[in-house]
Formats: sequence, C-alpha cells, structure tokens
Amino acid sequence: MDRDSRKIVIALDGHSSCGKSTFAKAIAARLGYIFIDTGAMYRSVTLYALENGGIVDGIVDEDAIVALLDQIEITFRFNPTRGASDIYVNGELVEGKIRTIEVSNFVSAVSSIAAVRTKLVAMQQQMGRKRGVVMDGRDIGTVVFPDAELKIFMTAEPKVRAERRYAELKAKGDDVCFEEILENVIARDKADSTRAISPLRKADDAIVLDNSYMTVEQQMEWFDAQLARVLSL
Ligand code: DC
Repeated sequence: MDRDSRKIVIALDGHSSCGKSTFAKAIAARLGYIFIDTGAMYRSVTLYALENGGIVDGIVDEDAIVALLDQIEITFRFNPTRGASDIYVNGELVEGKIRTIEVSNFVSAVSSIAAVRTKLVAMQQQMGRKRGVVMDGRDIGTVVFPDAELKIFMTAEPKVRAERRYAELKAKGDDVCFEEILENVIARDKADSTRAISPLRKADDAIVLDNSYMTVEQQMEWFDAQLARVLSL
C-alpha cells in the first residue's frame, strides 16, 4: 500500500502522567491524524458523577453512576490553539475541570465500572473506524483496537511522573503537595493494573517506550523508526 496515504490506528497505552498526551499530540500533528485522549472521557464521566450525585461524600455510588450514563453526551471539538480537541459534556467545555486532583482521585473507581467502559469503548471504536487516529489510554491496544497497526506501551518511573505532574499543576497555579501527587500516581498504577475489567497491561505485540530520561525529540526519533518499520510491513 502507498506509504503516505495508508492510514493506521496508533494505540498508545501506559501509565498515568508519563507524557502520553504530549507524545500523542505530537505524533498526530506530524501525521495529520486525529488525537483522541480517552482518559479525558473517563475523567468527564467522573466529573459528571461528582456534580450530579454519583459520588457523594467520597463514596462512589455505582448504581447511581450507571443511571446517569444516558444523560452524558461527550463531544470533542478541535482547538487550534492547543493543537488538540477539547472535550465537552452536554455542550459544556470541561477541559479545565477534569484535570483536578479531586477528579484524579475518583477516576480509577469510575473507570472500573463495566457499563462506563462499555459506553466509552463503543464511542472510541466509532471515532477510530476510519483509521487515521492516535488514541491514548489504558486498553486501546488490548480492547478498543486489538487490530491497531502500531501499539506503543509508554511508561516512566513513578517519581519522574510525579515530578512532571507536580510541575504541571504548579504552573497552573494549583496549590499541590508533591507527596500527595506521588501517592496518587502509585495508587492509580495499582488500581489501573489490578482492576477486574480491562486492566492496564501491555498488549503482547506492543512496543515499550520508557521515557524517564528521554527528551521529546528523542521520543520522536524513536517513533519515526517504529512508524517506518510498521509502514514497510
Ligand atoms: O490518562 P489519564 O490519566 O487522564 O486517565 C485517567 C484515568 O482514566 C486513569 O486512571 C485510568 C482511566 N482510563 C481507563 O481506564 N481507560 C482508558 N482507556 C483511559 C483512561
């Protein structure tokens, strides 16, 4: 097939806060592909649950969240300033509201609810049906697109990831504590990898990218080599 016109699915899975979104955005821009941040979708459902009685006093009410699902309409709109799509819930832009520590603390619990996953996985498959997407998440190469042509499993040391997240939140002006962030990173790794449904795991045919001590440029060089290999198959 023609190397340049052949559109593929790039599945990007891995641990939280290891720069998946930055990497995915850069790849998508380079290839003219659509970037889909599936974590933002799970975060949006979590936010909606927090605001509409699905999580009360720190208790995640599974039945209530399942009952809320039909009311949640998630859409993406491309934002040229960010070079990525912003996420909307029922028409409301929630990009800023979904990245708080409160949402982060509950998102693993919400994303382990079977009905939540069924709804979001179906949406993701629909969005990638024409290929030409870079989809970032936890189960893209294993569940959403097991037939993805290129599967990357991204990781970095927990301390390095917490440092990056800390700097990001500080830059936004959030009053955050490093220890709390490190705990959240470790707790989410554990919850994501051990949950019963679609746990985070490397697909057998995924290639590992540990970017603990890599610059963005080095990661892009690595990616170019992987892409060339896949397209020459
Ligand atoms: O990528 P992120 O940190 O924004 O993702 C937030 C949470 O959503 C993460 O703790 C796990 C969950 N998630 C998931 O279960 N499946 C996905 N495909 C993407 C994210």
